[in-house]
Amino acid sequence: MQHISRELEERRERARLGGGERRIDAQHGKGKLTARERIDLLLDEGSFEEWDMFVEHGSADFGMAENKVPGDGVVTGYGTVNGRLVFVFSQDFTVFGGSLSAAHAGKICKVMDQAMKVGAPVIGLNDSGGARIQEGVASLAGYADVFQRNVLASGVIPQISLIMGPCAGGAVYSPAMTDFIFMVRDTSYMFVTGPDVVKTVTHEEVSHEELGGAETHSTVSGISDLAFENDVEALIEVRRFIDFLPSSNREQPPVRDSEDPPDRVEMSLDTLVPVNPNQPYDMKELIAKVVDEGDFYELAPDFAGNIIIGFARIAGGTIGVVANQPMVLAGCLDIDSSRKAARFVRFCDCFNIPILTFVDVPGFLPGTQQEYGGIIKHGAKLLYAYAEATVPKVTVITRKAYGGAYDVMASKHLRGDVNFAWPTAEIAVMGPKGAVEIIFRGDIGDAEKTEARAEEYRQKFANPFVAGALGFIDDVILPCNTRKRVARAFAMLKDKELANPRKKHGNIPL
Ligand code: HXC
Repeated sequence: MQHISRELEERRERARLGGGERRIDAQHGKGKLTARERIDLLLDEGSFEEWDMFVEHGSADFGMAENKVPGDGVVTGYGTVNGRLVFVFSQDFTVFGGSLSAAHAGKICKVMDQAMKVGAPVIGLNDSGGARIQEGVASLAGYADVFQRNVLASGVIPQISLIMGPCAGGAVYSPAMTDFIFMVRDTSYMFVTGPDVVKTVTHEEVSHEELGGAETHSTVSGISDLAFENDVEALIEVRRFIDFLPSSNREQPPVRDSEDPPDRVEMSLDTLVPVNPNQPYDMKELIAKVVDEGDFYELAPDFAGNIIIGFARIAGGTIGVVANQPMVLAGCLDIDSSRKAARFVRFCDCFNIPILTFVDVPGFLPGTQQEYGGIIKHGAKLLYAYAEATVPKVTVITRKAYGGAYDVMASKHLRGDVNFAWPTAEIAVMGPKGAVEIIFRGDIGDAEKTEARAEEYRQKFANPFVAGALGFIDDVILPCNTRKRVARAFAMLKDKELANPRKKHGNIPL
C-alpha cells in the first residue's frame, strides 16, 4: 500500500510537470500561464477534480513509443466557478505543443459527454499546435469526434472557448462551433491557413497577429466575442461571464440578490433622446441606467458597433440585451450587425434567457457592398432568430423604427410579448423626408411645400400613436419609468409557455 501510494505520488508529480521545467519556463517567457495554472485561476480554489491524468498516447511511429508524457497534453476534469459546476479542458502547450492525439481527443470527449449528462457548461482553454503530426489520420479522427460533440452539445449546455495560444487549421472549427470565443491579445491567434500558406497562394504578406490575432478577430471578422490583455484577465472575466448563464437548457438562468430596486425611476432618461431626430445619443447609457446596478456584460463591443449585445440582470435574473446604437452608422442594420445579433438572440432562446430589445433603427444600410454581400440573407437571420424565439421578449422603441427593420427588431408581429414605445418613437415605413420625396415624386421642386408635407407626414406617422391605435404597441411609457415597466413585464412573463410547431429543425437562412 505504502509502495503504491508513493508510486501514485511520483506519477502525479510527473504528470504535473507536463513537458518539463524548460518548456514551462518558455511558456512563461511568452507571457502565458501553463495549463494547470490556468485551471487554478478559472476554478474555485480546491474545487478541481482531475480526470485521466495518466492517459498516454498509443502511437509508436517516429520514435513516439519512447516519448510519452502522462496526460498527453491536455488537463481535463470538472470543478466549480462561484459554486456552480463546470467542466474544463486545458491544452498543455509544453507537451508536444498541446497537439491533439487520439488519446488527447478522447479526454476532451469524455468531459464533454459527462457535461451533457449532468447539464453543465464546458470551458475549453485552447493552446495547441493542432493535429499531432506523428499520428496522422488518427488525430484527424479525434478532431472529428470533438466536432461531433460540439454540435450535439449546442443548445444543450453552454460551450465557451478561450483561445490562449495557437489555434490553426481545422482545429479552429471546434471553437467556432462553441457559443462564445474569447481571445488573449498578443499570445493567441486563429486562422484556417497561416501566413506562410497565405503568402504562397495569394502573395499577401501578413503577420500571425494581423491575420488572426485577438485584435483582428474582435474588430474585423467578429469571430472573437472579447479580447483580453492577458491570461489572468481572461480567466477572471470568464468567471464573471459564466455567472450570467444557466448551466444547461434544462435550467432557468440564475437569479442573484440585487440591491437595486426594480421600480427605480431614472429621471435623466427623459432627456436622453435629443430634440433633433438626426442627432445621435449613446444607447449604452440607456442600458446602464435600466439594468441592475448598471452591470452590463457587453459582447463584441468593437465589432458591428451599430448593434449592442450582452447580458445583464433585471430584478436579479439574467436577461439578454439587444439594442441599436445610434452613435454608429445611425444604428442601421447591416450584414455584420444582423449576424452578430442573430446568433446572440438564438443563444438566449436556447438557454431560456429573456430578451430585452431597445430599438432606434432607421432601416437597413443601403449600398452595393451590402447587397452583393448578401444582406438579404443576413438580415433574414435576425428576423428568423427573433421570430423563432419563444423566450420572454420585451421591446422598447426609443426613437426610430422604420421599415422592415421595425418588423425585425422584436416587434409585436414576431411574438413580442410586451412592446413599449417612448413618446419620442417614430414608427413608420421610412423617415418623413424620404416618404414625401416618394409620395410626391413629380412635385418636389418647392422646398417650402415639401417641408410642409414632411411635417404633415411626421405628425401623422412619426409618433407612437398610430402603432398604439392598432395595438402594435402595448403602451407609451415615460423614459424615466423604463426600468420599472420592463421589470414588471419580465416578472409577468416569468412562467411564459410557448412552443414552436414540432419539426426536426428549421432552416435558418445561413
Ligand atoms: C506534434 C508539435 C505540433 C504538432 C508543435 N509541436 N506542433 N508536435 N504535432 N502539430 C511540438 C514541436 O515539435 C515542439 O516540440 C513543441 O511542440 C513546441 O513547438 P515549437 O515549434 O517549438 O513552438 P513555437 O515556436 O511556439 O511554434 C508553435 C507552432 C509550431 C506555430 C504551433 O509548433 C507549428 O507550426 N507547429 C505545427 C503546426 C501544424 O502544422 N499543425 C498541424 C495543422 S493541421 P519540442 O520537442 O521541440 O519542444 C491541423 C489539422 C486539424 O491541425 C484538422 C482538424 C479537422
